[in-house]
Amino acid sequence: MCGIVGAVAKNDIVTTLLNCLQCLEYRGYDSSGIAVLEAPQVLRRLRAVGKIDNLRTALQDFPLAGKVGIVHTRWATHGAPTEANAHPHFSQNEIAVVHNGIIENYYELREELQGAGYEFHSETDSEVIAHLIHKYYQKTHNLLQAVHLARQCLSGMYAIAVIHASEPNRLIGVRQGSSLVVGFGENGHFIASDCVALTSVAEEFIYLQEGDLVDIYDTQVVIYDNECQLVEREQQILHFSSEAIERGVYKHYMQKEIFEQPYAVANTFAECLHSNLISDGTFSVAAKELFPKVKRIQIVACGSSYYAGLVARYWFEAIANLPCRVDIASELRYQKTVIEPGTLLVAISQSGETADTLAVVRQAREVGYLAWVAISNVAASALMREADLAFLTHAGIEIGVASTKTFTTQLVVLFLLSITLGEYNGLDEQRALQLTQALRNLPAQLEQTLVLDAVLQKLAKKFITKQHALYLGRNICYPIALEGALKMKEISYIHAEAYPAGELKHGPLALVDENMPVVVLLPKDELVAKMESNIKEVQARRGEVIVFADSSLDCSELGDVMVIKMPEVIKEVAPIVYTLPLQLLAYHTAVQKGADVDQPRNLAKSVTVE
Ligand code: M6R
Repeated sequence: MCGIVGAVAKNDIVTTLLNCLQCLEYRGYDSSGIAVLEAPQVLRRLRAVGKIDNLRTALQDFPLAGKVGIVHTRWATHGAPTEANAHPHFSQNEIAVVHNGIIENYYELREELQGAGYEFHSETDSEVIAHLIHKYYQKTHNLLQAVHLARQCLSGMYAIAVIHASEPNRLIGVRQGSSLVVGFGENGHFIASDCVALTSVAEEFIYLQEGDLVDIYDTQVVIYDNECQLVEREQQILHFSSEAIERGVYKHYMQKEIFEQPYAVANTFAECLHSNLISDGTFSVAAKELFPKVKRIQIVACGSSYYAGLVARYWFEAIANLPCRVDIASELRYQKTVIEPGTLLVAISQSGETADTLAVVRQAREVGYLAWVAISNVAASALMREADLAFLTHAGIEIGVASTKTFTTQLVVLFLLSITLGEYNGLDEQRALQLTQALRNLPAQLEQTLVLDAVLQKLAKKFITKQHALYLGRNICYPIALEGALKMKEISYIHAEAYPAGELKHGPLALVDENMPVVVLLPKDELVAKMESNIKEVQARRGEVIVFADSSLDCSELGDVMVIKMPEVIKEVAPIVYTLPLQLLAYHTAVQKGADVDQPRNLAKSVTVE
């Protein structure tokens, strides 16, 4: 969940390191720090609580300079977000380490190292790494060997960057369960948790593989595998448009990303649809052999991605005629489940780095799944690289912590997958064409929902004084109620709960009074009458109802409710369309409450720890 960057450069690298780190702030933002080698034997560091801007300010009073350095932005796991717990961690003023991940055996190591005389200055699991490397350096006097020996004692998931005061032109990085890339630049070579951090300094990259150790010494970059054997890894040229990572005219990244959805959705299906037919190559050649063998689906994901999975269950069952189960990864990984023959595991993760989701797929073959498919927005993520079949959502870089365009593009991929599997499973050709046409119509319909922006900004005023809100949906739109409530919770800190509307009278109705705004999703389907009854139940308890309703529905009988007219869409694609106004409502509520929309408290975009 933390972000790390390191560099061995030709010129002073402090400002560059901070700029690179700022691009990783989405991974954690409760404290940050930097360590540089100012001269041989002169290792200096500065750390600050809060966002990276605080570190920049601190650097004005205590400037640092150096050509070799490491930086870190933290999402606290072990120990509160204090300066002492912020990285880099030092050992004896000789070694500096930054770490992303969790060291599971840190407690035993800490006791052992304390026994050997090492003093600890933080509550983190990470500090053991610095002392452990120091211990081995005492024996080897060689940083590369010391890191290699130390890593063999560590259990858990980590990416680390290490520098040593006596080896002034050297930077070592290790990838073990947490992502790490190497960037080759004009002014030097870098490592970082995500290549997004290095877009301004490098165009050529190597994605390290699990267990890789990279040794950057002056201008040389050498990679070793887990066994310390030299290995070659493919170097890739990547171009990032600056537009993709700039906010442009928008106040927040989240706002920009909400408004990018018509384009992101179109981009995601563009390469797959030809004259409304899903092209053969969409799910790769291997899919042709695999898909006829699929008898059922198991979806696994976390957070918003899990809600995308809940929507997809309806599609897999109704369109592809395949039984489907959806589980939260952190639950499934510790659960004994019966896996029927022919079960395809579908893992959804915008980051492709979520620890729990990765843990489930890494057991996939062993426990008997037919194969596993990855759906992610990050092509180079562990999830995508390890999958039997990988499908990229073309949402473009998403920087706001709250998922928006990555969520709707996940839905597009899942919809395409359900049609494709349906075609092997008796889906009528005309129906398939109707569904793909509905997909084609989406970008224009999403544009129409964005026109509601001003209305939703006004509506948000009602929410800012509330403590709670209720979201109701049914059937395929129930997961969208869940997603709308999650957006409201995570960025505006209003307690929002979602229920299938039919459950209302089984408990949550007790919460409804004049202080409870109730958001209702009313697409045009066979459940409209049922939903209308639920709305009446809320009105009878003086709850304030806001209905997002298909424009073709006559809502006049609902009486005193606020009706927001949605584009006319078939029920199958309603989840994608109804997501956008709920994102906008949460966004405007958070802005009006003065919350930090792009970096909500306590959260991070990549959840690389359990
Ligand atoms: O990267 P993932 O999709 O695996 O992340 C899972 C959740 O952490 C994520 O969907 C989270 O719930 C959203 N960012 C919330 O908006």
